[in-house]
Amino acid sequence: MRDDEIGAALLRWYDVHARRLPWRVGPGDIARGVRPDPYRVWLSEIMLQQTSVAAVAGYFQRFLARWPEVAALAAAADSEVMAEWAGLGYYARARNLLKCARQIAALPGGRFPTTVAELQALPGIGPYTAAAIAAIAFDAPATVVDGNVERVIARLFAVTEPIPASKPRLLALAGRLTPPARPGDHAQAMMDLGATVCTPRAPSCGRCPLRPACRAHSQGIAADLPNRAAKPVKPRRQAIAYVGRRQDGAYLLERRPEKGLLGGTLGWPGSAWREGPAVPDPPSAANWRQAGDEVRHTFTHFHLSVVVMVADLAQACAPERGGFVPAEAFRPETLPTLMRKIYAAAAPALCD
Ligand code: ADE
Repeated sequence: MRDDEIGAALLRWYDVHARRLPWRVGPGDIARGVRPDPYRVWLSEIMLQQTSVAAVAGYFQRFLARWPEVAALAAAADSEVMAEWAGLGYYARARNLLKCARQIAALPGGRFPTTVAELQALPGIGPYTAAAIAAIAFDAPATVVDGNVERVIARLFAVTEPIPASKPRLLALAGRLTPPARPGDHAQAMMDLGATVCTPRAPSCGRCPLRPACRAHSQGIAADLPNRAAKPVKPRRQAIAYVGRRQDGAYLLERRPEKGLLGGTLGWPGSAWREGPAVPDPPSAANWRQAGDEVRHTFTHFHLSVVVMVADLAQACAPERGGFVPAEAFRPETLPTLMRKIYAAAAPALCD
């Protein structure tokens, strides 16, 4: 199959099998002239960075209900957006989301930039996301290569060189398939094929529209590709977290610095996270006692073990760091997952 025949076969498949996704304008509506809303495309692509479609769907709907357009999001309070993002992870995305919304809202007419170069100049938008927004929202002939697409391309062209060294080659090969017509549908078709047919283990080659062209399939190595360089083993860091509650039920919480992991999120005061034993660093003098089992959580580059300490704090307590959140304003569901786990370990040990 020639490159253009591969692209055509993929689009014919997408016309029938496109996933229905909350942010998507399906191929039928696109053919009828419906245009995607760039705000929805942008919001979904930021949420989908490092996060699955299943995990994103609910967050996307809640963000859209609360902030239906970019001007509304731009006007939102930072703390509200961070709270709504809680649990989705990679919190730098939420900070950049707000920065980006504010930059776009300040543009003449508040209109979205349309080119890859303009999009990539915005906070939180790298080469992949700029290409995805340009293709999906504006039907620009940009080549969109995420992890799913890398797998499809590695198999189609039987690229045995491991990822990440092979990434430039995979991008170039994907570029050859990007059609001048319907590039937005093409980008989404590649993603859908990778997610539903050309899956990591046990790909469904029997129902793949590209099987006649697939070199890995003809060589019997589709399920073995792509090869990946061995991942470094993650180290384990240790920390102590302090869950303090005042007699009136208010909790002592602290906003983390903007830079770094969980940047800008609200959580329990704690020690530094280090590979050696944690060094105690309570936010105020009190009768701290250990509660529950160690909490474990995994980040991209390390595992974290947290010893949870609790204390009932005096009504007059003046902490060295953080501030009290009144009982009626405390919403554990607005904390990052790690902080929710710590709360779950602490709660049974606190006096009622
Ligand atoms: N993954 C990243 N972007 C996506 C999109 N627009 N549709 C489906 N999966 C995606």
